[in-house]
Amino acid sequence: MLKARAVVENLKEYHPPLGRREGLRLDFNENVGGCSPRVLRVLASISTEVLNKYPEREVGELAVAGYLGVALDRLLLTNGVDEAIHLLCETYLEPGDETLIVVPTFSLYEIYALATGAKVVNVQAGNDFAFPAQKVLRAITPATKLIALATPNNPTGKVAAREDLLAIAAAAPQAAVLVDEAYWDFHGETLIDQVGAVPNLFIARTFSKAFGLAGFRVGVLIGDAAQMKMVRRVGSPYNVNGVALACLTEALTDREFITGYVSQVREGRARLEQFYGERGIPFWPSRANFVLAHFGDYRKPLVEEMRRRGILVRDRNSDPGCAGCVRITVGTRPQTDRLLRELSEAFETIGFKPQPRMSLAEAEARR
Ligand SMILES: Cc1ncc(COP(=O)(O)O)c(C=O)c1O
Repeated sequence: MLKARAVVENLKEYHPPLGRREGLRLDFNENVGGCSPRVLRVLASISTEVLNKYPEREVGELAVAGYLGVALDRLLLTNGVDEAIHLLCETYLEPGDETLIVVPTFSLYEIYALATGAKVVNVQAGNDFAFPAQKVLRAITPATKLIALATPNNPTGKVAAREDLLAIAAAAPQAAVLVDEAYWDFHGETLIDQVGAVPNLFIARTFSKAFGLAGFRVGVLIGDAAQMKMVRRVGSPYNVNGVALACLTEALTDREFITGYVSQVREGRARLEQFYGERGIPFWPSRANFVLAHFGDYRKPLVEEMRRRGILVRDRNSDPGCAGCVRITVGTRPQTDRLLRELSEAFETIGFKPQPRMSLAEAEARR
């Protein structure tokens, strides 16, 4: 009988929550305000040729290289950052190798790493979810071949300091160090300038968040030219679809759209944090387009009540160290107005009272 590889047999399938059609979707960190209207105009005028020919990624890569100020041979467009992670795992991991991740974090690092037969070493962030630089440094071994770090991190919104990331890359020259900057637009600090100078450093960016193009599935992987040559070998030359490529230049040109949206998110993030702060709700100051907060035993009733009110928010209870936590994406100004109004009313409906946060050990014991 046909059998999948043993590591695949043991792998859990990543199931994003379903039934997300109705309501304001503040559960996936998307731009639910939509994309640039200029992109929609290009989309409406797509010719049949875009559909019947195999896509040419190079034109899109030239535009993105110009936008990011990166040399063309250091850049690869990918089918979202998801594919960038997958390609790095395929390029650098052998069975038995170690991948270091800081948890809680984005789930696909673990899934793609395990699928190669590599081991995943979880480094738990502190109780405040601060980036555990020293713990990561101590966890590096000669078998470490991939270190995947999101900054800002999902679901915590926490960032890692530049010096810490560079120290980690220097301490593990045998490992690919992926700095996932999917939420860069809402933060502003980058390590792109170090690509090439640090030969094992890779940066990932996406068009799924600030640009509002998650459905296009376009991301970018940037790294040392010699390494990128290896990474390109394991991927499809047609990994980015023609429709997305046809719209990409327009998306990059409409800077006003991005600036306007990002400033609304930053303002909304401050409003949501203030809202939590005034009510004594534990939350983690975020540098991304979402905020994680602790609702303890009220987390489930809150998620359900918000759904009833037409707003989807994300239960992160099962993430390591996140018992009782809910993550809410910040959107446009009117969406934040609505969110705060509905949250206040939902608190009343469920009789919510802020709860002290359990230590990590207590939370794990109660799971
Ligand atoms: C840290 C992080 N990286 C990557 C992604 C996925 O990006 P993409 O849509 O480009 O695959 C996400 C999506 O939530 C994320 O949180």
